[in-house]
Amino acid sequence: MTATPRHPGNHPSVVHCDAPAKINLALHVTGQRDDGYHDLETLAVFCEAGDRISAEENPAVPGGEIDVTATGRFGADLPVGADNIVVKAAQALLATLPERACGLSITIEKNLPLASGMGGGSADAAATLLAVSHLCGIRDPGQLTDLAETIGSDVPMCLYSRALIARGRGEAITPLDDFPKFSILLVNPGTGVSTPRVFNALQQKSNPPLATLPATRDCEALSDWLAGQRNDLELPAISLVPIISEVLDDIGNSGALLTRMSGSGATCFGLYSDFQQAETAALQIRQNHPDWWVQATLSKSHGLDRIEP
Ligand code: C5P
Repeated sequence: MTATPRHPGNHPSVVHCDAPAKINLALHVTGQRDDGYHDLETLAVFCEAGDRISAEENPAVPGGEIDVTATGRFGADLPVGADNIVVKAAQALLATLPERACGLSITIEKNLPLASGMGGGSADAAATLLAVSHLCGIRDPGQLTDLAETIGSDVPMCLYSRALIARGRGEAITPLDDFPKFSILLVNPGTGVSTPRVFNALQQKSNPPLATLPATRDCEALSDWLAGQRNDLELPAISLVPIISEVLDDIGNSGALLTRMSGSGATCFGLYSDFQQAETAALQIRQNHPDWWVQATLSKSHGLDRIEP
C-alpha cells in the first residue's frame, strides 16, 4: 500500500492498496450449517497478480457518499452501484466513524476476471477497508476483521493476504509461517460462475477435513501433500460449466506439479517448480486459447507489505 500525504504529519490524501488474487490450493467442504452456509477447511495463498484499490477524499462528493470508478481490463464489466462490494465495505466502515465533511472517490483497477473463484470482489472489499481506514487515520487493521466478516465469507482472509488455513464459514483463520513462494499459472475460460449455484450443486456436503500439513514445507513436498487433498467444489462446478475440464486438462498437460480449480471456479491453477515453466505454459495456453485469461504469477510469501504506508 502506498499513501500520499497532503502535508507532512497529516492523514494521506490518496491511498493505494493491492488486492491480491486468492487461490484455494485445497478447499474441503466439511458440512452444511443451519445458517445456510457451509463449513469449510481451505488452504489459501495470495498472488502478486490482482486488482488495486485507490481511495481519496473528494470535496465534490457529499459527506458519507462514495463515488466508484472501475478501470483495468475487466473494469467495463463491473457494475459500480450500491450493490458493489467495495461500496458496501466503504459504507460499513464509514458508518463506524464520526461523520466526515466530504465523501470518497474510490477507483477499482479491475485486473481479475469477475466471479472467477479468485476472491476478486472480496480482495477489493478488504483492500477498501484497509485503504479507507488508512485515509481516515485508523492505524490498527486488527479492528477491521469483525467488520470484514459481515461483508463476505472470504473478506477476512483477504485482509491477511498471506498463506493461511481458513475454517468455519471462512472467518476462522490460522496464518501459516515459513510458506514457500509458488510459481503459479492462472487460467480462466471467460465464463463467470455463481458461487451459490456451485454450492447447491454439491451432492456430498460432509467430506473429510484437510490432512495435517507436512513438516517439510518446500514447493515439492507441499505439492505432493496437496495431491492428496481436494477442491470439493470442482465436480459441481464442472457439472455447471463443462469447459473447466478442458482448462484442467490443458494445465495438467503443461508439466504442472499440481493442477486444480480455485474456489467455486472457473479459474484453475497449476503449480510449477520455477517461474519460467509457469510462463512457458502460459504462452502455450494463450496461443491455443486467445480468448482465455491466462496469467503466470508468484504467490506472496508475506502479506504485511499491504498494510504499511
Ligand atoms: O459470504 P459470501 O456472500 O461471499 O458467500 C457467497 C455465497 O457462497 C453464499 O451465499 C453461499 O451460498 C455460499 N457460501 C457457502 N458457505 C461458505 C461461503 C459461501 O455456502 N462458507
